[in-house]
Amino acid sequence: MTSGDRGHPPEQWGSSLGFVLAAAGSAVGLGNLWGFAYRASQGGGAAFVVLYLLIVAVVCLPVLVAEMVLGRSTGHAPLLAPITAGGRRWAPLGWLFMAAAIGILSYYAVLMGWTGRSLIHALSAPLPADIPAAERFFAGISSGGDAVLGHLISLALTGVVVAAGIKAGIERLTRWAMPLLFLLLLALVIWAAFLPGAHEGYNGFLLRWDASKLTDLTTIRNAFTQAFFSIGTGIGAILAYSTYLNRRSGIPGEAVAVVGMDTAVGLMAGCITFPLVASFGLVDVVSSSTVGTLFISLPTGLASLGGAGRVVAALFFLLAYVAAITSSVSLLEVPVSSLMDRLGWSRSRSVWLMVLLIAVIGLPSCLDVAVLERMDALFGGVCLIAGGLLLALLLGWQVPDRFRTDLLESGSSPDLVRLLRWALRWISVPAISLGLLISIIDLAKSWSGAGA
Ligand code: TRP
Repeated sequence: MTSGDRGHPPEQWGSSLGFVLAAAGSAVGLGNLWGFAYRASQGGGAAFVVLYLLIVAVVCLPVLVAEMVLGRSTGHAPLLAPITAGGRRWAPLGWLFMAAAIGILSYYAVLMGWTGRSLIHALSAPLPADIPAAERFFAGISSGGDAVLGHLISLALTGVVVAAGIKAGIERLTRWAMPLLFLLLLALVIWAAFLPGAHEGYNGFLLRWDASKLTDLTTIRNAFTQAFFSIGTGIGAILAYSTYLNRRSGIPGEAVAVVGMDTAVGLMAGCITFPLVASFGLVDVVSSSTVGTLFISLPTGLASLGGAGRVVAALFFLLAYVAAITSSVSLLEVPVSSLMDRLGWSRSRSVWLMVLLIAVIGLPSCLDVAVLERMDALFGGVCLIAGGLLLALLLGWQVPDRFRTDLLESGSSPDLVRLLRWALRWISVPAISLGLLISIIDLAKSWSGAGA
């Protein structure tokens, strides 16, 4: 059953390492560099980090494996894979994947635009000298012509990579980008450790323990959203990548590698931003955090270091842009592979049509940061978690045999498969249901509060 209904993707990854790097590239992105710091600083401290790690390990990991199995065992793109596995009534899941991927990319490209603009600024002009100057600079890049241009350029670059194909585009990019990213990150972590006051940074955020935060609703919602967004599971991006996967590759091991790299990068990013923030006395700016905080506080803090600060700022934004593009390609691959699969279109036709559509959908986010935040809460929060829940239901309860057979056939040990299936059914499904409920309630509350 798992092989008879398989589609026939024309391409395959060059190697297992190529797939793992591409999947890790999808996971590691702006979500790690900016989202992790932003959410950890919203009061959760170490409790946020603990919850996040717990959710990643016991809730997301089985879902990630399920998503990979669904892609490989059906050989179909995200739009059709749920129908192939579970029948017609699972068709809405395919549409949810499409909507979420398009929705997320429409504002992700805007954030990439800001990142690119900050990089160019660090290379070409002195950093802003104080917070008001930085705020003026940020207001300039996050609205109007600059924002639209950055959005369009970022989408076009993403389109060029995806149009080149799996091996010649995505795999080739991630092969050099991921090692570069780790090197830059490591250099910055070491640099930050020697800042005066670095310890306060670690203590103030990552090590500040308050057990009552473990049951705080906002901390829970933040940890859930961050875990799903950062791993990038729940909307079919890894599913799309997995259709090009070899039948024999060991999915659970690859999933652990992806999750491990992603978590390591999140923690390393925290070890850069928190010491920086503490060292430059920007704690207040950050704890009243909004989506633009890092773009404002980071350059301002670094400005006091003169030329060296500019180099560090340029490296940081370069790192962020590289991380972002290896993520945005996975988001674009969801609708692109679906159009190719469903309508038989060529890759380049699907790419450029989708780029056009997403460019238009992203315009409101370019012009108004409040719209961007709402898109993030809706598509990057609720839709993503709902997708994760439906994936866990599909492979854990509706077609558990497909899950088992695919993993056993590719050589996973029976005990491991049993454990994963048990976790998918009895941990992921109830935990995500609860997380989804909390997220919807919390979101409704904040939206009605903001509207009043
Ligand atoms: N994980 C990426 C980040 O942390 C963003 C991303 C890529 C993503 N693919 C995804 C998020 C799929 C959700 C779903 O920035």
